[in-house]
Amino acid sequence: MSGKVERPEDPRLAAIVESSHDAIIGKGLDGVVFAWNSAAVRLFGYTAAEIIGQPITIIFPPDRVEEEQVILNRIGRGERVDYYKTVRCHKDGHIISVSVTISPIRDISGMIVGASTIVLDLTDRNIRNQRIQELKAELVHLQRLTELGQLVSTLVHEVNQPLTAISNYVNACRRLITTGNHDRVSIALDRIADQTQRIRDFVQKRDVQMRVEDLSQVIHEAIELTRTSVSDTGLILTVQLDSTQFAVKIDKVQVQQVLFNLLRNGIEAMQGQPRRVLIVSANSALGEMVEISVADTGPGLAAEVRAKLFQPFVTTKANGMGVGLSVCRAIVESQSGRLWAEDNPGGGTVFRFTVSRAVG
Ligand SMILES: Nc1ncnc2c1ncn2[C@@H]1O[C@H](COP(=O)(O)OP(=O)(O)O)[C@@H](O)[C@H]1O
Ligand SMILES: [Mg+2]
Repeated sequence: MSGKVERPEDPRLAAIVESSHDAIIGKGLDGVVFAWNSAAVRLFGYTAAEIIGQPITIIFPPDRVEEEQVILNRIGRGERVDYYKTVRCHKDGHIISVSVTISPIRDISGMIVGASTIVLDLTDRNIRNQRIQELKAELVHLQRLTELGQLVSTLVHEVNQPLTAISNYVNACRRLITTGNHDRVSIALDRIADQTQRIRDFVQKRDVQMRVEDLSQVIHEAIELTRTSVSDTGLILTVQLDSTQFAVKIDKVQVQQVLFNLLRNGIEAMQGQPRRVLIVSANSALGEMVEISVADTGPGLAAEVRAKLFQPFVTTKANGMGVGLSVCRAIVESQSGRLWAEDNPGGGTVFRFTVSRAVG
């Protein structure tokens, strides 16, 4: 067992190893590295030239070095190590949380001559999952707030009621002042304060935060969020950007809520259909705007909702609230854009809205 192993001879195999998103490392039974793909370069910071011929323990934190002997013993016995969670060290010294899978490499005679290691970067995954969770929480929160805001402008009587009460108490105060009944004036003023608070509680909305954002990222995050809340394996969701660099000036969370609502409506509309394709695209539009569209292959808009699509409480769904689109329109218009719907020429519906391009 010399531990000497050749690099993969087959150029197709070498290409697969090289293009893998996960780090792939080959080492001999003496722990010396002989293969190091580009993902390994990205993950650990060492170039192939720097590490090939060196012991693999270079990437082990000092307190983990003994792990290598345990791994090599198992490999020597022909065993695999599957999804072993541990930590490794980047060239610049920072610790990376990883999951490693190590399998023996055998020569033609079947003798074990080394090991191949696939390293998954858990830090990357953990951060992504955490970001999605945060984004989800923020969206749910915001959705509640904006739906509430929408309800206020719609349920006029909800606001009218305290306003009418206030006006009655004001009139009562006028009368009571002339009769000099100050105790009762004081009670009426307290009631006015209560009613005012009632209205304030209703209309409190989150401040809009307009910032320069990368539209591609905004869209991809909204899609990721949609994917995590929908388990439809047959759904095809694609993004088409006519420029990968769209800097836009928006309230990101609100625009993501618009996208999320439109995507969800599209998915709901296509339920039960054999072909379910959603295409999100972004194109330059007049007046320093960017037009974003969400196109589905659903049945199109029902005749009864067409004319009042963006009015609140208009729904064709058994458990629909019918406020999604009205909230979307309110958000888009508050950011100086427009939102409208068109028939998709190939069948289905396209919702389009505009946002401001970041200038200067
Ligand atoms: N992509 C779509 N395809 C067909 N109809 C749609 C689509 N999006 C919305 N609609 C129609 O508009 C109605 C209102 O949508 P919305 O305001 O989001 O409320 P909800 O989804 O709760 O019904 C839906 O009930 C549906 O009839
Ligand atoms: Mg909806």
